[in-house]
Formats: sequence, C-alpha cells, structure tokens
Amino acid sequence: MRILLYRADGNTAPWIKDFADLMPEAEVVVWREGVGEIPACDYAVLWTPPQSMLADLARVKAIFLTGAGADAIMKYSQAIPPHIPIVRLNDAGMGMQMAEYVTHAVLRYFRRLDEYEAQARAGAWLQLEARDKADFTVGVMGVGALGTQVIEALRPFGFPLRAWSRTAKSLAGVECFHGEDGLDAFLGSSRVVVCMLPLTPETVNILSRSNMQKLPQGAYIINVGRGPHISDPDLLPLIKSGHIAGATLDVFRNEPLPAPHPFWEEPRITITPHISALTLRRESIEQMVGKMRQHARGEQVADVINREKGY
Ligand SMILES: NC(=O)c1ccc[n+]([C@@H]2O[C@H](COP(=O)([O-])OP(=O)(O)OC[C@H]3O[C@@H](n4cnc5c(N)ncnc54)[C@H](OP(=O)(O)O)[C@@H]3O)[C@@H](O)[C@H]2O)c1
Repeated sequence: MRILLYRADGNTAPWIKDFADLMPEAEVVVWREGVGEIPACDYAVLWTPPQSMLADLARVKAIFLTGAGADAIMKYSQAIPPHIPIVRLNDAGMGMQMAEYVTHAVLRYFRRLDEYEAQARAGAWLQLEARDKADFTVGVMGVGALGTQVIEALRPFGFPLRAWSRTAKSLAGVECFHGEDGLDAFLGSSRVVVCMLPLTPETVNILSRSNMQKLPQGAYIINVGRGPHISDPDLLPLIKSGHIAGATLDVFRNEPLPAPHPFWEEPRITITPHISALTLRRESIEQMVGKMRQHARGEQVADVINREKGY
C-alpha cells in the first residue's frame, strides 16, 4: 500500500515515523510543490491541498483529511471525481480540546475574569456584581462530533443550554432548535453563542449583522468553527455599540490574522491562533489507519464527506 502525504508546513518526518509504526505495510510518498511524477498511490493524507496537487489527488482511491472540517478541500471538489471518498477526522482527541477551550471561554466571561484581569493590571481591588446564571443561556451552533462534547462539558455548570443544528435533535436538558426556521428563536435566547459549524455555502456569514442583532443585548460570541462564519466588519460596530459584549475568536477569514486587522486593537476580542482543537498526530493516524484498512477490505468507511451538504 502507498500513501501520498502532503503537509503545508513541510514537517513530514514525524508523520512518516508514526505511519511506519502504525501501518508498517505502507510506504509513504511525500508530495511537494514541483515534486514531478509520483508513483501510483492508494490513499492521500492532507488537509489543505494546493491546486497543483489536484491531478494527483484525482488518481487515489480515497482522501483522508487531517482535520474535522472539509472546507479547504471542498472548494476544489469539482476536480476530485465523485467516486473518491473524502474522509474527515471524527473527534480524534479534538472533542476534549474543544470542551476545554469553550468551557474556559464561557467561564471566563461568566465570572468576569477578563474584567478582573484588567482591574488587576490597573491595581484596582473591586468586586463586581455576579452574573445571573438563570439568565446566562449558552447556545451551541452545530452539535456534531465536537459540539455534543462541548454541551456535555458545559452541563455540570448549570447554564441553560440551547443547540442549533441542520436536522432535528433531542438532547436531554437542552432546548434544541434546527434549520432556518429555528434560527431566530435560537439566536434570540442565546446570551452566549458558540459557533461550531462546518463552513458550507449555507453557513458562511451565518453570524451576519442581522443575525448578530437578533442576539440578546450584551451577548457574547465564541467562534471556533471557521472565520467566514462571522461578518468581520459588522462585529466591531456591534461591540462598540454594546449590543455584543465581546468575543473569543479562534478562527479568521485570513489566517494568520493580518497585522493591521482592527480585531487586534479591540480589548473585548480575545484572539487565539486556530488552536481550539489541534490535530493530534498519533490519534489521527490511528483513526486513519483503521479506516484505510476497512476501505482496503472493501468495507464501508465512516465520516465520508457528503459532497452535496459540504460536510
Ligand atoms: N478551530 C479549530 O481548531 C477547529 C478544529 C476542528 C474543527 N473545527 C470546526 O468544527 C466544525 C465541526 O466539526 P464536527 O466534527 O463537530 O462536525 P460534524 O460532526 O459534521 O457536526 C456538524 C454540525 O453542524 C451542523 N450543521 C451543518 N450545517 C448546518 C446548517 N446549515 N445549519 C445548521 N446546522 C448545521 C450539523 O447538523 P446535523 O447534525 O443536523 O447534520 C452538525 O450538528 C468543523 O467543520 C470545523 O469547521 C475547528
């Protein structure tokens, strides 16, 4: 078996080593810009392919993504024949990381820790009023592999929980909304909104100006989905007006977030460099190897991207 590996960061050595440990029968061929002719490969492993790789991708039996989101490859989906399954990671250690990140961001805002931090820097000792938990509704957009783990992590704190998905869901103790028809009621009752959606034509700009205006006064936004879920130029004025109290953003339209971007200057926006759930190499390779072996045996493989839905 031959695996075609592409890493945008060029750091292929640890991947080759882990594949050698976990799938000794496979030979790993590294794809690089200008690599020239490559031997026929069974499977490709990558996340954000360059356009110049598409002809080689069109020849493999299946493509395995080293991330949960498929948006980076879906923009080229026309170039990848439909019989080639594109398989994403399902959790592989990302759910726990998302649970840690989102719970931290929610509690930091709920317990006003960002304000206490600013006070401490100014040498001020001042106890602020506690927020009312009954009124502190947390709404999670996207309750798939990762969103459900975030809901479970938030549950013990006793916040009223909301969820919004494409299809109807039933989660104990969580008020569930779905589809376009359920969006306004979901937004209107979410004091904190956590975006954990895949990026698709339906979800791009889902946090548009008009949708953000539907959030309650003083709402807080956490975006760990993708940058284009939020309309950047509309977020800042809504924060300045006080309608949105602040945001924790892990993902951006352009990454790295460019130096002159106004988000850097806004103290009510917390910025992290797309780290809310990192790809854990060993866990990810274990999952991919299991699925490659299933595929090679002619069995059904889970987590194949539905090209029509885009996720
Ligand atoms: N920042 C990071 O480090 C990082 C890391 C990993 C992943 N992510 C992001 O997290 C996303 C979610 O990952 P996942 O593994 O949880 O995906 P998933 O299991 O496919 O779950 C996606 C969820 O989004 C819902 N959804 C999709 N389209 C929708 C629409 N148009 N309207 C309403 N709900 C919609 C789905 O609804 P149904 O259940 O009804 O299908 C599902 O609940 C990824 O696509 C990626 O963008 C970010």
